Amino acid sequence: MHDARLVASHYTHGDLLDRITAGVTGLGKTPGTVTVDDLGAVDEFHIGGRAATAELLDRVGLDADHHVLDVGCGLGGASRFVAERFGCRVTGIDLTAEFVDTGRVLCEWVGLADRVRLHHEDATAMSFAPESFDRAYMLHVGMNIPDKRALAADVYRVLRPGAILGIYDVMRVGPGELEYPVPWASAAAGSALATAHEYRQAAEAAGFRVLEERDRRAFALEFFARMRERIEAAGGPPPLGLHVILGARAPEKLRNMVAGIASGAIAPVELLLQKVGG
Ligand SMILES: C[S@@+](CC[C@H](N)C(=O)[O-])C[C@H]1O[C@@H](n2cnc3c(N)ncnc32)[C@H](O)[C@@H]1O
Repeated sequence: MHDARLVASHYTHGDLLDRITAGVTGLGKTPGTVTVDDLGAVDEFHIGGRAATAELLDRVGLDADHHVLDVGCGLGGASRFVAERFGCRVTGIDLTAEFVDTGRVLCEWVGLADRVRLHHEDATAMSFAPESFDRAYMLHVGMNIPDKRALAADVYRVLRPGAILGIYDVMRVGPGELEYPVPWASAAAGSALATAHEYRQAAEAAGFRVLEERDRRAFALEFFARMRERIEAAGGPPPLGLHVILGARAPEKLRNMVAGIASGAIAPVELLLQKVGG
């Protein structure tokens, strides 16, 4: 069982909405003029940001009739992107109340509050009825959930037969210690990294069929190299960026994660799963 308070206290910022509002002002925009694209720099809290989301979701296969579940939605950046790009209805759930509350405000800002609903819920014990969703995805969330079987079982329960689940998580890919903090945990006690094999076993035990697995290590290293170049060229980070959501220890968290990817201990990995049976 994961410690919900540990997860929420790691991610809770305290004044995130104010910081995002200041970033929006720094872009020369207002809550009334900011776009889903502008917000993508801060509200897509995973390696590769919006580009990574778009690549995964193109493979999940979405259309306007789908009701989509965003498991561990954070601020709901991917939820808004999906609603805008594919025209779907999206429900996001997250354990960190500040993310959910802030995310709801961002939905209002961009006029998507009718199609994107964010809820404060635990991914291993969701309140939804069985077979509520046509598609689901989970971006950088499993690293906080030790019981992958409980996670897979509950997502399986709320999906319709035939539905696809896209996972994009940081996974254990080789030996070696990590330094903390990292973006998902302040210390080792908050981290529940697993191998792709362990994810697949949990998924198959729940009833999923594994369609594809893709290692995204090279993509990740390229993403961080480009980010560093842009920050150096500009003499500092942009008004809206991952540093805003990562908080005071942002440089350390990123440095430790990138070192782990570079050393071959961890990497982001995509898994595409399908619910078979009913
Ligand atoms: C690194 S953030 C990623 C957020 C979002 N998926 C994104 O990519 O922007 C991890 C998120 O997982 C959420 N989380 C962790 N454990 C969870 C659980 N058991 N149930 C729901 N959300 C959880 C955290 O609150 C946090 O918002």
